[in-house]
Amino acid sequence: MKKDFKEFYRDPKYVEKYEPIFIETPGGKYIHDVESSAIASLLPSGDSIVIELPSGTGRFSRSLSKEVNNLIVMDSSFPMLKKTLQRVSAPAANALATSLPLADGSVGGFVTIRLFHLLSRDEIFLFLGEVRRTLNKGGFFIFDINHDIGMCKALKYYQRTKATFTNWPNMTFVNPKEMKKILNSMGFQVHRIEKRFVIQTGVLRLAKFLHKMIFQLDRFLQNKCSDFCTKSYWLVTLK
Ligand SMILES: C[S@@+](CC[C@H](N)C(=O)[O-])C[C@H]1O[C@@H](n2cnc3c(N)ncnc32)[C@H](O)[C@@H]1O
Repeated sequence: MKKDFKEFYRDPKYVEKYEPIFIETPGGKYIHDVESSAIASLLPSGDSIVIELPSGTGRFSRSLSKEVNNLIVMDSSFPMLKKTLQRVSAPAANALATSLPLADGSVGGFVTIRLFHLLSRDEIFLFLGEVRRTLNKGGFFIFDINHDIGMCKALKYYQRTKATFTNWPNMTFVNPKEMKKILNSMGFQVHRIEKRFVIQTGVLRLAKFLHKMIFQLDRFLQNKCSDFCTKSYWLVTLK
């Protein structure tokens, strides 16, 4: 059975561990910078309400609040949301992605980073339905997905252990082709996809001594071949 990530991220022990991965390890900082730049490159300008969901510990919230005029932060974990609110002063809601406390057509944009792999396939459809319901005409939706194939190719470690990402029982992997189909069926059109190569933080936790090598590999692969990516960041709108 799929792990309940909502419960997992409500555990104060894990909440305390989440942020240091990104700010205290060199690998984490590197990933955070790559992610921040991908989001910034996709973010349209405008004055409308932008929902950051899930905001997690708020590691993107401060920079987002400088870029957009009306940021609202949301997360299903109250302890995570409290961390966000230590960073930014913004309206907040302890809310589920599958049932948003927002009126129809009331939102100008969504920024959703590191959520899709935590949802079941049914929840992905419910969430996309909620985004479609609450976005106004011309609104945007930015999100990321993980690419399991790039990850597996990248790290021999995974090949050796045969622990391919698609076999990870707890996470949902939607490949880009499938994502395009789902988006199309849910009434969205894709505007831009930014590909990035980053080794996941889990790996950095496993092997800290690999950090230096991983940066070099990350940089090399990002410059070398955009098809060989591990994550992509999407900008989509309603059709
Ligand atoms: C990996 S963290 C990502 C947080 C932030 N976007 C970031 O990249 O640092 C995942 C977050 O999703 C939240 N979450 C998990 N399932 C959710 C759901 N169904 N609805 C809303 N938030 C959810 C968790 O509480 C957690 O804060």
